[in-house]
Amino acid sequence: MLPYDKSLIQEIESHRPRIPVGLLSRAEKDRLIERSFLGLYRWYINRSQSQRNWNPDTDVPWKDIRQDHNEEINKVLEGFFAVEQYVPDYVENIVNLVRGSHGRSHFQIRWGSEEAKHADLWHNACLFSRFRSPDWLRNYMGELRSNQWTLPWEGDPIRMIFYTVFQERATQINYLNLGVIARGKSLVEKFKGSADPVLVRASQLIAMDEAAHYNFFLEGARLFLYYYPAQALEAMTDVIKYFSMPAGNIIPNYNEFAEIVHKAGIYGPREHSRDVVQSCLDNMGIENKRALERGIRETRLVPDEDGNLRQTAIFPGLDFSHIEDAVKRLFGRIQKYEGEVGFDTVDPIEFKPNY
Ligand SMILES: [Fe+2]
Ligand SMILES: [Fe+2]
Repeated sequence: MLPYDKSLIQEIESHRPRIPVGLLSRAEKDRLIERSFLGLYRWYINRSQSQRNWNPDTDVPWKDIRQDHNEEINKVLEGFFAVEQYVPDYVENIVNLVRGSHGRSHFQIRWGSEEAKHADLWHNACLFSRFRSPDWLRNYMGELRSNQWTLPWEGDPIRMIFYTVFQERATQINYLNLGVIARGKSLVEKFKGSADPVLVRASQLIAMDEAAHYNFFLEGARLFLYYYPAQALEAMTDVIKYFSMPAGNIIPNYNEFAEIVHKAGIYGPREHSRDVVQSCLDNMGIENKRALERGIRETRLVPDEDGNLRQTAIFPGLDFSHIEDAVKRLFGRIQKYEGEVGFDTVDPIEFKPNY
Protein backbone atom coordinates (compact mmCIF):
# COMPACT_ATOMS: atom_id res chain seq x y z
CA MET A 1 0.00 0.00 0.00
CA LEU A 2 1.22 3.44 -0.88
CA PRO A 3 2.03 5.77 1.97
CA TYR A 4 -0.36 8.72 2.05
CA ASP A 5 -0.75 11.89 3.97
CA LYS A 6 -3.83 11.56 6.19
CA SER A 7 -4.22 15.29 6.58
CA LEU A 8 -4.41 15.64 2.82
CA ILE A 9 -7.34 13.20 2.66
CA GLN A 10 -9.04 15.06 5.49
CA GLU A 11 -8.48 18.31 3.68
CA ILE A 12 -10.06 16.91 0.51
CA GLU A 13 -12.95 15.43 2.51
CA SER A 14 -13.64 18.73 4.19
CA HIS A 15 -14.03 20.36 0.79
CA ARG A 16 -16.56 17.89 -0.51
CA PRO A 17 -19.63 19.76 -1.65
CA ARG A 18 -22.57 19.74 0.76
CA ILE A 19 -24.73 20.79 -2.13
CA PRO A 20 -24.27 18.13 -4.78
CA VAL A 21 -23.60 19.06 -8.36
CA GLY A 22 -26.77 19.84 -10.29
CA LEU A 23 -28.13 17.51 -12.93
CA LEU A 24 -30.18 19.77 -15.13
CA SER A 25 -29.24 22.15 -17.89
CA ARG A 26 -29.81 25.86 -17.37
CA ALA A 27 -32.59 25.85 -19.98
CA GLU A 28 -34.35 22.98 -18.23
CA LYS A 29 -34.10 24.68 -14.84
CA ASP A 30 -35.47 27.91 -16.26
CA ARG A 31 -38.33 26.00 -17.86
CA LEU A 32 -39.19 24.27 -14.57
CA ILE A 33 -39.07 27.54 -12.62
CA GLU A 34 -41.21 29.34 -15.17
CA ARG A 35 -43.75 26.52 -15.33
CA SER A 36 -43.96 26.43 -11.54
CA PHE A 37 -44.58 30.17 -11.33
CA LEU A 38 -47.42 29.80 -13.81
CA GLY A 39 -49.02 27.01 -11.77
CA LEU A 40 -48.45 28.84 -8.48
CA TYR A 41 -50.02 31.97 -9.96
CA ARG A 42 -53.08 29.99 -11.08
CA TRP A 43 -53.44 28.38 -7.67
CA TYR A 44 -52.95 31.73 -5.93
CA ILE A 45 -55.60 33.56 -7.96
CA ASN A 46 -58.18 30.86 -7.38
CA ARG A 47 -57.55 31.06 -3.68
CA SER A 48 -57.50 34.84 -3.63
CA GLN A 49 -60.86 35.05 -5.39
CA SER A 50 -62.55 32.38 -3.30
CA GLN A 51 -61.18 33.28 0.13
CA ARG A 52 -59.86 36.83 0.20
CA ASN A 53 -62.17 38.75 -2.05
CA TRP A 54 -62.84 41.55 0.46
CA ASN A 55 -63.73 45.14 -0.16
CA PRO A 56 -61.97 47.96 1.70
CA ASP A 57 -65.16 50.07 1.82
CA THR A 58 -67.85 47.53 2.63
CA ASP A 59 -66.06 44.86 4.67
CA VAL A 60 -65.03 47.15 7.51
CA PRO A 61 -67.68 49.01 9.57
CA TRP A 62 -65.92 52.35 9.23
CA LYS A 63 -68.69 54.36 10.85
CA ASP A 64 -67.86 52.64 14.13
CA ILE A 65 -64.10 53.28 14.21
CA ARG A 66 -62.96 55.15 17.29
CA GLN A 67 -62.40 58.85 16.86
CA ASP A 68 -60.42 59.29 20.06
CA HIS A 69 -57.31 57.24 19.34
CA ASN A 70 -54.10 58.67 20.71
CA GLU A 71 -51.71 60.55 18.44
CA GLU A 72 -49.40 57.53 18.11
CA ILE A 73 -52.07 55.21 16.74
CA ASN A 74 -53.24 57.86 14.33
CA LYS A 75 -49.68 58.39 13.14
CA VAL A 76 -49.29 54.65 12.66
CA LEU A 77 -52.39 54.57 10.45
CA GLU A 78 -51.05 57.52 8.51
CA GLY A 79 -47.66 55.80 8.10
CA PHE A 80 -49.29 52.61 6.79
CA PHE A 81 -51.33 54.77 4.42
CA ALA A 82 -48.08 56.37 3.20
CA VAL A 83 -46.23 53.10 2.59
CA GLU A 84 -49.13 51.65 0.60
CA GLN A 85 -49.38 54.83 -1.54
CA TYR A 86 -46.66 53.70 -3.93
CA VAL A 87 -48.69 50.82 -5.41
CA PRO A 88 -48.51 52.25 -8.94
CA ASP A 89 -44.70 52.32 -8.71
CA TYR A 90 -44.46 48.90 -7.08
CA VAL A 91 -46.53 47.39 -9.87
CA GLU A 92 -44.92 49.29 -12.74
CA ASN A 93 -41.35 48.59 -11.73
CA ILE A 94 -41.75 44.96 -10.77
CA VAL A 95 -43.92 44.08 -13.77
CA ASN A 96 -41.29 45.63 -16.03
CA LEU A 97 -38.62 43.55 -14.37
CA VAL A 98 -40.46 40.23 -14.79
CA ARG A 99 -42.56 41.00 -17.87
CA GLY A 100 -41.07 38.03 -19.74
CA SER A 101 -42.53 35.60 -17.23
CA HIS A 102 -46.20 34.68 -17.64
CA GLY A 103 -46.70 33.58 -14.03
CA ARG A 104 -44.60 36.25 -12.36
CA SER A 105 -45.83 39.24 -14.37
CA HIS A 106 -49.51 38.33 -14.22
CA PHE A 107 -49.16 37.62 -10.52
CA GLN A 108 -47.65 41.08 -9.92
CA ILE A 109 -50.61 42.73 -11.64
CA ARG A 110 -53.12 40.86 -9.44
CA TRP A 111 -50.91 41.40 -6.40
CA GLY A 112 -51.03 45.11 -7.24
CA SER A 113 -54.82 45.06 -7.16
CA GLU A 114 -54.63 43.65 -3.63
CA GLU A 115 -52.06 46.22 -2.55
CA ALA A 116 -54.31 48.96 -3.95
CA LYS A 117 -57.02 47.73 -1.57
CA HIS A 118 -54.55 48.15 1.28
CA ALA A 119 -53.92 51.75 0.25
CA ASP A 120 -57.69 52.36 0.19
CA LEU A 121 -58.21 50.63 3.51
CA TRP A 122 -55.69 52.86 5.31
CA HIS A 123 -57.10 55.87 3.51
CA ASN A 124 -60.51 55.04 4.96
CA ALA A 125 -59.00 54.47 8.40
CA CYS A 126 -57.36 57.92 8.36
CA LEU A 127 -60.56 59.58 7.13
CA PHE A 128 -63.05 57.92 9.47
CA SER A 129 -60.87 58.25 12.55
CA ARG A 130 -61.14 62.01 11.86
CA PHE A 131 -57.44 62.45 12.55
CA ARG A 132 -56.96 64.17 9.21
CA SER A 133 -59.35 66.15 7.05
CA PRO A 134 -60.11 64.93 3.51
CA ASP A 135 -58.20 67.91 2.13
CA TRP A 136 -55.21 67.25 4.32
CA LEU A 137 -55.15 63.64 3.08
CA ARG A 138 -55.50 64.69 -0.55
CA ASN A 139 -52.56 67.07 -0.20
CA TYR A 140 -50.51 64.48 1.63
CA MET A 141 -51.23 61.90 -1.04
CA GLY A 142 -50.08 64.38 -3.68
CA GLU A 143 -46.93 65.08 -1.73
CA LEU A 144 -46.21 61.35 -1.32
CA ARG A 145 -46.79 60.62 -4.97
CA SER A 146 -44.60 63.46 -6.15
CA ASN A 147 -41.81 61.06 -5.28
CA GLN A 148 -41.40 57.78 -7.06
CA TRP A 149 -40.39 54.43 -5.67
CA THR A 150 -37.67 52.63 -7.61
CA LEU A 151 -36.45 49.05 -7.36
CA PRO A 152 -33.97 48.41 -4.57
CA TRP A 153 -32.34 45.89 -6.95
CA GLU A 154 -32.38 47.10 -10.54
CA GLY A 155 -32.52 44.44 -13.23
CA ASP A 156 -32.24 41.57 -10.78
CA PRO A 157 -35.32 39.31 -10.55
CA ILE A 158 -33.64 36.89 -8.09
CA ARG A 159 -32.69 39.62 -5.60
CA MET A 160 -36.14 41.15 -6.01
CA ILE A 161 -37.91 37.92 -5.14
CA PHE A 162 -35.86 37.63 -1.95
CA TYR A 163 -36.52 41.28 -1.18
CA THR A 164 -40.27 40.72 -1.50
CA VAL A 165 -40.09 37.65 0.78
CA PHE A 166 -38.67 39.73 3.64
CA GLN A 167 -40.74 42.79 2.82
CA GLU A 168 -44.09 40.96 2.77
CA ARG A 169 -43.29 39.21 5.99
CA ALA A 170 -42.33 42.56 7.53
CA THR A 171 -45.63 44.20 6.51
CA GLN A 172 -47.54 41.20 7.83
CA ILE A 173 -45.80 41.57 11.21
CA ASN A 174 -46.59 45.30 11.26
CA TYR A 175 -50.30 44.67 10.72
CA LEU A 176 -50.49 41.73 13.10
CA ASN A 177 -48.91 43.82 15.85
CA LEU A 178 -51.28 46.70 15.22
CA GLY A 179 -53.99 44.06 15.62
CA VAL A 180 -52.59 43.24 19.08
CA ILE A 181 -53.00 46.88 20.11
CA ALA A 182 -56.47 47.03 18.55
CA ARG A 183 -57.54 44.00 20.57
CA GLY A 184 -56.47 45.85 23.71
CA LYS A 185 -53.68 43.31 24.28
CA SER A 186 -50.65 45.59 24.01
CA LEU A 187 -48.14 45.40 26.85
CA VAL A 188 -47.16 49.01 26.26
CA GLU A 189 -48.86 51.18 28.90
CA LYS A 190 -49.87 53.89 26.46
CA PHE A 191 -51.89 51.47 24.32
CA LYS A 192 -53.67 49.51 27.00
CA GLY A 193 -56.92 51.40 26.44
CA SER A 194 -56.74 51.39 22.66
CA ALA A 195 -59.08 48.49 21.89
CA ASP A 196 -61.01 49.06 18.67
CA PRO A 197 -62.90 46.21 16.95
CA VAL A 198 -62.96 48.13 13.67
CA LEU A 199 -59.17 48.29 13.59
CA VAL A 200 -59.03 44.63 14.56
CA ARG A 201 -61.08 43.80 11.50
CA ALA A 202 -59.01 46.08 9.25
CA SER A 203 -55.68 44.69 10.38
CA GLN A 204 -56.93 41.10 10.13
CA LEU A 205 -58.05 41.51 6.52
CA ILE A 206 -54.84 43.11 5.47
CA ALA A 207 -52.51 40.80 7.42
CA MET A 208 -54.22 37.84 5.74
CA ASP A 209 -53.34 39.28 2.32
CA GLU A 210 -49.75 39.95 3.36
CA ALA A 211 -49.45 36.35 4.54
CA ALA A 212 -50.63 35.14 1.12
CA HIS A 213 -48.17 37.46 -0.64
CA TYR A 214 -45.39 36.25 1.60
CA ASN A 215 -46.25 32.67 0.77
CA PHE A 216 -46.19 33.27 -2.98
CA PHE A 217 -42.76 34.90 -2.87
CA LEU A 218 -41.45 32.31 -0.43
CA GLU A 219 -42.42 29.47 -2.79
CA GLY A 220 -40.74 31.34 -5.63
CA ALA A 221 -37.60 31.95 -3.59
CA ARG A 222 -37.39 28.24 -2.77
CA LEU A 223 -37.51 27.40 -6.49
CA PHE A 224 -34.41 29.54 -6.99
CA LEU A 225 -32.77 28.06 -3.89
CA TYR A 226 -33.35 24.59 -5.25
CA TYR A 227 -32.41 25.11 -8.87
CA TYR A 228 -29.83 27.89 -8.46
CA PRO A 229 -28.60 27.61 -4.86
CA ALA A 230 -25.36 29.53 -5.22
CA GLN A 231 -26.92 32.55 -6.89
CA ALA A 232 -29.95 32.43 -4.61
CA LEU A 233 -27.93 32.30 -1.39
CA GLU A 234 -25.76 35.15 -2.53
CA ALA A 235 -28.83 37.20 -3.44
CA MET A 236 -30.43 36.47 -0.09
CA THR A 237 -27.34 37.53 1.83
CA ASP A 238 -27.27 40.86 0.00
CA VAL A 239 -30.96 41.45 0.54
CA ILE A 240 -30.69 40.82 4.29
CA LYS A 241 -27.64 43.05 4.54
CA TYR A 242 -29.18 46.04 2.79
CA PHE A 243 -32.84 45.55 3.68
CA SER A 244 -35.03 48.55 4.37
CA MET A 245 -38.80 48.97 4.20
CA PRO A 246 -40.16 50.13 0.84
CA ALA A 247 -40.39 53.88 0.29
CA GLY A 248 -38.87 54.66 3.70
CA ASN A 249 -36.42 56.99 1.98
CA ILE A 250 -39.08 59.00 0.11
CA ILE A 251 -41.83 59.35 2.73
CA PRO A 252 -41.59 62.66 4.59
CA ASN A 253 -41.17 62.17 8.36
CA TYR A 254 -40.57 58.47 7.90
CA ASN A 255 -38.13 58.45 10.83
CA GLU A 256 -40.83 59.73 13.17
CA PHE A 257 -43.13 56.93 12.00
CA ALA A 258 -40.36 54.33 12.44
CA GLU A 259 -39.77 55.60 15.96
CA ILE A 260 -43.48 55.36 16.83
CA VAL A 261 -43.91 51.79 15.53
CA HIS A 262 -40.75 50.82 17.38
CA LYS A 263 -41.92 52.24 20.71
CA ALA A 264 -45.41 50.81 20.21
CA GLY A 265 -43.94 47.30 19.92
CA ILE A 266 -45.24 47.05 16.35
CA TYR A 267 -41.95 46.91 14.51
CA GLY A 268 -38.37 47.47 15.57
CA PRO A 269 -34.99 45.76 15.41
CA ARG A 270 -36.18 42.90 17.62
CA GLU A 271 -39.25 42.13 15.48
CA HIS A 272 -37.14 42.53 12.36
CA SER A 273 -34.48 40.02 13.35
CA ARG A 274 -36.71 37.52 15.17
CA ASP A 275 -40.07 37.62 13.40
CA VAL A 276 -38.89 38.56 9.94
CA VAL A 277 -35.31 37.53 9.18
CA GLN A 278 -35.11 34.42 11.37
CA SER A 279 -38.62 33.33 10.52
CA CYS A 280 -37.96 33.65 6.77
CA LEU A 281 -34.64 31.79 7.14
CA ASP A 282 -36.42 28.97 8.99
CA ASN A 283 -38.82 28.67 6.08
CA MET A 284 -35.92 28.51 3.66
CA GLY A 285 -34.02 25.80 5.49
CA ILE A 286 -31.28 28.06 6.80
CA GLU A 287 -30.12 27.79 10.38
CA ASN A 288 -29.48 31.48 10.96
CA LYS A 289 -27.97 34.61 9.48
CA ARG A 290 -24.48 33.81 10.72
CA ALA A 291 -24.58 30.36 9.11
CA LEU A 292 -25.71 31.92 5.85
CA GLU A 293 -22.88 34.46 5.88
CA ARG A 294 -20.33 31.83 6.80
CA GLY A 295 -21.59 29.56 4.03
CA ILE A 296 -21.25 32.33 1.47
CA ARG A 297 -17.74 33.18 2.67
CA GLU A 298 -16.57 29.61 2.49
CA THR A 299 -17.95 28.97 -0.94
CA ARG A 300 -15.64 28.59 -3.86
CA LEU A 301 -17.83 28.41 -6.89
CA VAL A 302 -17.19 28.03 -10.56
CA PRO A 303 -20.48 27.63 -12.37
CA ASP A 304 -20.25 25.81 -15.68
CA GLU A 305 -22.10 26.92 -18.82
CA ASP A 306 -25.29 25.39 -17.40
CA GLY A 307 -25.03 27.35 -14.19
CA ASN A 308 -24.26 24.24 -12.14
CA LEU A 309 -21.76 24.24 -9.31
CA ARG A 310 -18.56 22.59 -10.34
CA GLN A 311 -16.48 23.17 -7.28
CA THR A 312 -16.56 23.23 -3.56
CA ALA A 313 -19.87 24.49 -2.26
CA ILE A 314 -20.12 24.27 1.48
CA PHE A 315 -23.21 25.66 3.12
CA PRO A 316 -23.05 24.17 6.59
CA GLY A 317 -26.21 25.96 7.70
CA LEU A 318 -28.44 25.03 4.76
CA ASP A 319 -30.87 22.15 5.11
CA PHE A 320 -31.07 21.16 1.50
CA SER A 321 -33.61 18.37 1.93
CA HIS A 322 -35.94 20.94 3.52
CA ILE A 323 -35.84 22.95 0.28
CA GLU A 324 -36.31 19.89 -1.89
CA ASP A 325 -39.32 18.74 0.17
CA ALA A 326 -40.85 22.21 -0.07
CA VAL A 327 -40.36 22.35 -3.83
CA LYS A 328 -41.88 18.87 -4.24
CA ARG A 329 -44.86 19.91 -2.12
CA LEU A 330 -45.32 22.97 -4.31
CA PHE A 331 -45.35 20.83 -7.46
CA GLY A 332 -47.88 18.54 -5.77
CA ARG A 333 -50.13 21.45 -4.86
CA ILE A 334 -50.00 22.80 -8.42
CA GLN A 335 -50.67 19.36 -9.90
CA LYS A 336 -53.73 18.96 -7.72
CA TYR A 337 -55.17 22.34 -8.66
CA GLU A 338 -54.33 22.04 -12.35
CA GLY A 339 -55.67 18.50 -12.42
CA GLU A 340 -59.05 19.74 -11.22
CA VAL A 341 -59.16 22.23 -14.08
CA GLY A 342 -57.79 19.75 -16.62
CA PHE A 343 -54.45 21.34 -17.39
CA ASP A 344 -52.86 17.94 -16.79
CA THR A 345 -54.30 16.74 -20.07
CA VAL A 346 -53.03 19.66 -22.14
CA ASP A 347 -49.92 20.97 -20.35
CA PRO A 348 -48.91 18.74 -17.43
CA ILE A 349 -46.38 19.89 -14.86
CA GLU A 350 -43.84 17.44 -13.47
CA PHE A 351 -41.20 17.82 -10.78
CA LYS A 352 -37.64 17.11 -11.88
CA PRO A 353 -34.92 16.70 -9.29
CA ASN A 354 -31.89 18.89 -9.75
CA TYR A 355 -29.73 16.68 -7.54
FE1 LIG B 1 -49.87 45.68 1.48
FE1 LIG C 1 -48.23 42.71 0.32
